[in-house]
Amino acid sequence: MDGARFESLHVGLIGEVETALRALTPPADARPARLHAAIRHSLEAGGKRLRPVIALAAARAFDPAGDARAAAVALECIHTYSLIHDDLPCMDDADLRRGRPSCHKAFDEATALLAGDALIPFAFELLARGYGDRPALLRDLTLELAVTAGPSLLVGGQTEDMGGLAAGADPDRLEFILRGKTAAMLSASFAMGALVGGAASAEVEAFRRAGRSAGIAFQLVDDLLDLTSDSVQMGKPVGADAQNNKLTYAGLFGVPAAQARVAALTTEASALLQGTRGDTAFLVELVGRMAARRN
Ligand code: IPE
Ligand code: IPE
Ligand code: MG
Ligand code: MG
Ligand code: MG
Repeated sequence: MDGARFESLHVGLIGEVETALRALTPPADARPARLHAAIRHSLEAGGKRLRPVIALAAARAFDPAGDARAAAVALECIHTYSLIHDDLPCMDDADLRRGRPSCHKAFDEATALLAGDALIPFAFELLARGYGDRPALLRDLTLELAVTAGPSLLVGGQTEDMGGLAAGADPDRLEFILRGKTAAMLSASFAMGALVGGAASAEVEAFRRAGRSAGIAFQLVDDLLDLTSDSVQMGKPVGADAQNNKLTYAGLFGVPAAQARVAALTTEASALLQGTRGDTAFLVELVGRMAARRN
């Protein structure tokens, strides 16, 4: 897909995500106002909206009229909760997120904890409201998101990530962390979009696997940018992984090996997407740009 066509589709999808986020999440002045203000603070502009954009595009790859807005916003809610909690002093202790003070800095720790908590059931409320008239689809979406956000993937990955280098420079543990804390949500974004688009189960699985590869690459790039970028560009602290003694791929195998793996995973993800019946040109381009991103 040529660059201009990609840009215009991408801008359009981000616009749809921003509109759906505003329409489907509670306003900042809902009671209790402090909780809702904290939720809005963290959900608002500044995020790349990668997961919801993927969900919308993945649905349309199979059905041009596929409406994945509720699933897209649900994914962004879970992702945003994970960032709020990830930044807490008891986890990565980061003061900056999406170019603004992190939630516990703008509010307080208890409010940040609760804002994150609230976003988890809210994501499932969105699914129930959005897909309740299609029970089989609702079941599949609920299972996908619950398993992804649960103890064996997102929370499990975050748990092992907290052990850092002190828990040992173990490649197998590193894979569990990458798969769980990051790749799972990107994988679910592809899979949930494909489900909404009515893809066959083999195609959903190809999208899931593509998302897993692209998602591992995404975290390898995040870790590389933590070494080389700056906090203005990233909208979050840099040098944080060294400071927190994190186990990373670049740390374990070196920067060139991390770059080579990003390239290999991106090729793998693109091939999986192209192997389906879906119209995946936008997603293939997106996966390439995720690997080359600068923020
Ligand atoms: C940040 O994700 C957390 C990681 C998995 C590295 P993003 O880089 O997608 O963050 P936002 O949503 O754009 O803020
Ligand atoms: C991201 O890992 C994982 C989640 C937020 C689930 P990081 O801790 O590297 O993410 P950033 O760098 O703080 O965004
Ligand atoms: Mg972290
Ligand atoms: Mg962090
Ligand atoms: Mg990071």
